[in-house]
Amino acid sequence: MLDIRSILAVKRDGGRLSDAQIREFLAGYVAGDVPDYFASALLMAIFVHGMAEDELVTWTQTMLNSGRVMRFPSLGRRTVDKHSTGGIGDKVSIPLAPAVAACGLAVPMISGRGLGHTGGTLDKLEAIPGFRTQLSAEEFERCLERTGVALGGQTPDLVPADRKLYALRDVTGLIESIPLIASSIMSKKLAEGLDALVLDVKFGSGAFMVAEERGATLARTMLKLAHSMGVKATAFHTNMERPLGRTAGHTLEIEESFDCLEGRGPADLRELVCLQGGEMLRLGGVAATLDEGRARIARALDNGSAREVFWNVIVEQGGDPSCLDERGRLAKATQRTELRAERGGVLAWRDLRAVGHAICALGGGRVKLGDQLDLAVGLVFPRSEGDHLAAGDVVVELRHNGRGLDEALKLLRRSFELVDAHTPRPLVLATY
Ligand code: URA
Repeated sequence: MLDIRSILAVKRDGGRLSDAQIREFLAGYVAGDVPDYFASALLMAIFVHGMAEDELVTWTQTMLNSGRVMRFPSLGRRTVDKHSTGGIGDKVSIPLAPAVAACGLAVPMISGRGLGHTGGTLDKLEAIPGFRTQLSAEEFERCLERTGVALGGQTPDLVPADRKLYALRDVTGLIESIPLIASSIMSKKLAEGLDALVLDVKFGSGAFMVAEERGATLARTMLKLAHSMGVKATAFHTNMERPLGRTAGHTLEIEESFDCLEGRGPADLRELVCLQGGEMLRLGGVAATLDEGRARIARALDNGSAREVFWNVIVEQGGDPSCLDERGRLAKATQRTELRAERGGVLAWRDLRAVGHAICALGGGRVKLGDQLDLAVGLVFPRSEGDHLAAGDVVVELRHNGRGLDEALKLLRRSFELVDAHTPRPLVLATY
């Protein structure tokens, strides 16, 4: 019989749960036999005391096996994916997945929606007219077989333990725990039945995990979990002290992703797509070295093969691919307002969270789960961090529909400074 009180007592006193206790607790919680008040007490104890390495492996494996685990035995290609902890303007997954598929691997990508200051890949994809992200298991597999990519959302049968625990952590202020974050992310990614995974852990004011050291610990913890389950993995620790690319906001980011798929677009976006895609090719065994992988991804972007894969994915997922050729088919905001520099100086971003909140104020972000989004609104950043601006130069252009403009401008004004000197930090800080 489930003895939840003694399970709680072990963790309350900083002890290690046995494998059997972990399995009993998670099975009972998913089945509805363990009430939320017991579960939140256990999560709080984990939050305070952490978890031993092997304890976390069992916890993550049990979460992963709480629902359907995908397998694609007849695919004939290795499966790889990437996960990013997200940030402002992070649209890397959108050009990356078709570029990797164009080089011979399959990418079964389950993504999430935006919440708070960061956007979500699913919401961005839905800026493509007709694009469906809620796919059944059969539709997901068919799309993967036909195109090499499937871009879907979590379904109720995938990792139900995380679905319940994440919602509970959200309302009880228990998100910011490294073992709980690592097990939540990795249980969902590893339920995709992957051969290899690339992780992009961001640092900086726009990142989920602002402090560099905590980001590094999260990256190492997730890598250990992947390796313990026989999945090859690499983590990159990358810069979110400034926006990625030149745009943030759903439709704008889709357009920028299209540019990248045509061998154009901002250099930092292309750099991360080539780096992370190249590493996916190396881990997936179709490139001998990272340099070879990078070069192959760059070629797929330049020769149209990645774009062709994405065209097929749009068709397969019910969207209108003609928007790749005719950008006017994407919903556009009706108004433009420019925020200009009040003095000359070097552009230094100080608070990217405020940039994300400015997009929310315009209606382009979710303050709470279930909020409807205005996919057309967003921000354009014509100048890069470290550029010298003269007084009157545009720092941010707001694309909006009239809603929340004053609030957005107020937030943006405090998000940057014009200083005498500023040296931007590198795009990629470390590789683990
Ligand atoms: N993203 C997740 O999927 N889980 C977490 O716990 C935090 C971020």
